[in-house]
Amino acid sequence: MTKKWWKESVVYQIYPRSFMDSNGDGVGDIKGIISKLDYLKKLGIDVIWLSPVYESPNDDNGYDISDYKKIMDEFGTMADWEEMLGEMHNRGIKLVMDLVVNHSSDEHGWFVESRKSKDHPYRDYYIWREGKDGKEPNNWESVFSGSAWEYDEATEEYFLHLFSKKQPDLNWENPKLRREIYDMMKFWLDKGIDGFRMDVINFISKVPTLPDAPNPEGKPYASGHEYFMNGPRIHEFLQEMNQEVLSHYDSMTVGEMPGVTPEEAVLYTGEDRNEVNMVFQFEHMDVDSGPGGKWDVIPFDLVKLKSILTKWQMELHGKGWNSLYWNNHDQPRIVSRLGQDGEYRVKSAKMLATLLHMMQGTPYIYQGEELGMTNVRFSSIDEYKDIETLNMYREKVAQGMKPEEIMESIYVKGRDNARTPMQWDGTEHGGFTDGEPWIASNPNYREINAEKALNDPESIFYYYQKLIAIRKKHDIIPYGSFELHYADHPSVYAYTRTHGDEKILVLCNVSGEEQVIDNIASFDITQAEILISNEELHEKDAFTLNPWEATAYYIKG
Ligand code: NOJ
Repeated sequence: MTKKWWKESVVYQIYPRSFMDSNGDGVGDIKGIISKLDYLKKLGIDVIWLSPVYESPNDDNGYDISDYKKIMDEFGTMADWEEMLGEMHNRGIKLVMDLVVNHSSDEHGWFVESRKSKDHPYRDYYIWREGKDGKEPNNWESVFSGSAWEYDEATEEYFLHLFSKKQPDLNWENPKLRREIYDMMKFWLDKGIDGFRMDVINFISKVPTLPDAPNPEGKPYASGHEYFMNGPRIHEFLQEMNQEVLSHYDSMTVGEMPGVTPEEAVLYTGEDRNEVNMVFQFEHMDVDSGPGGKWDVIPFDLVKLKSILTKWQMELHGKGWNSLYWNNHDQPRIVSRLGQDGEYRVKSAKMLATLLHMMQGTPYIYQGEELGMTNVRFSSIDEYKDIETLNMYREKVAQGMKPEEIMESIYVKGRDNARTPMQWDGTEHGGFTDGEPWIASNPNYREINAEKALNDPESIFYYYQKLIAIRKKHDIIPYGSFELHYADHPSVYAYTRTHGDEKILVLCNVSGEEQVIDNIASFDITQAEILISNEELHEKDAFTLNPWEATAYYIKG
């Protein structure tokens, strides 16, 4: 397995809207980010993935881009952005920008032109079709509820939008569009950025006939996943992008790929394939979703989680590369989801960090995860801002579901759980802004905040700092092989890593009850040193795991 800087890096994700506001308008901004770079340097991360900062009408908080080469006014200017990049590089931190090219905003100049007439030179930048029997061209459902098609009066045709109707899908079949995207990528790479996180990049190739999706239950709309996820020309497009752009730079790329399997991930990330460096897969994020999808919440099943993550560890080893994440701007907070955000918040957050960071892959930390920030429960739907949540709420209310029931699923799964302002200190709004924040702060900011964490040597922050430092010292963490133990144990997550004559044993208790396990034959714990643990006093020879304990042992020779 070849060594690469991005395999040995830890990435920190910034969601700029909610990170730090420097000018009191209630919206995070670039100068705010600059003011917190020393904090991130102290944490020890190597790379920042910055969610979109481009010009956008913010239908989906910047994931609807109206100009790929401009900075959103609310966030600052290009000069601010350049200063930020310089300040990151001065501190040895790399910058990965978000690349959102499955769709643009409907306010992008291309779309404004495209919708004008059927023979307009920009018409084919998007996916237009005639209606079928007075209805949409097919039965696909938008990820954000309702039909994936919107009728446009001007030319009496429909355009495809897999996300909101203000996010029309770009037509990757058109070589001119592809060239524009590649030129835009070069524009940013030439400014000195270090790579891209590619938004739903495995959606860009659609089956050209756009067939109806199977709909056995006769619902109004059906998921057309099989016709646009990992579509027929996806590898060709990514190889072309690599050839035209990425191969000319020492960059890092991560493709966000819902529905990707390990077999496909090997094709996307195999070193001889020249596509992307690593993927964001979603299988482990779906463990608490029932047959009805994301909002159909079921309890987290640890045995299932272990089998999924182990499959990814084993199948990519030596063949491809994966990212490791619990959180991002689309996911609820992991300490509330899989840990315990009450009495054991600190301990369970540290356990979850250990569990993830000792595996193979590039770890991602989402802003606030290093503080153990938790989910939020706003009492009224009016306090929620996320388009996915609001559309779903309206749809379910119209279907007759009880608002209280819908709210319960939002508390568990809503994306705004991750988007409440970063909690910097115990002052109003957690020190995020001097004004009114665009979304309310989690009221627990007096208890959970960065200032407190930095003053407490036992904080989650310093635990992450240590995990990052350990990764830097031990090649076994990025490069070692993986073996799971106690696959069927409902509460213990145990695995070993092996690399030459080195071994690491990771023992985690994913429960609030003590767990006693047997000796693991392949690992002599009595000879091992403790690499990291969330226990103050740990008896090395006892296989008794305290509630939410995590300990990693190390042996050489
Ligand atoms: C995935 C992004 O992470 C999410 O926030 C966004 O809504 C969709 N892609 C559409 O761009």
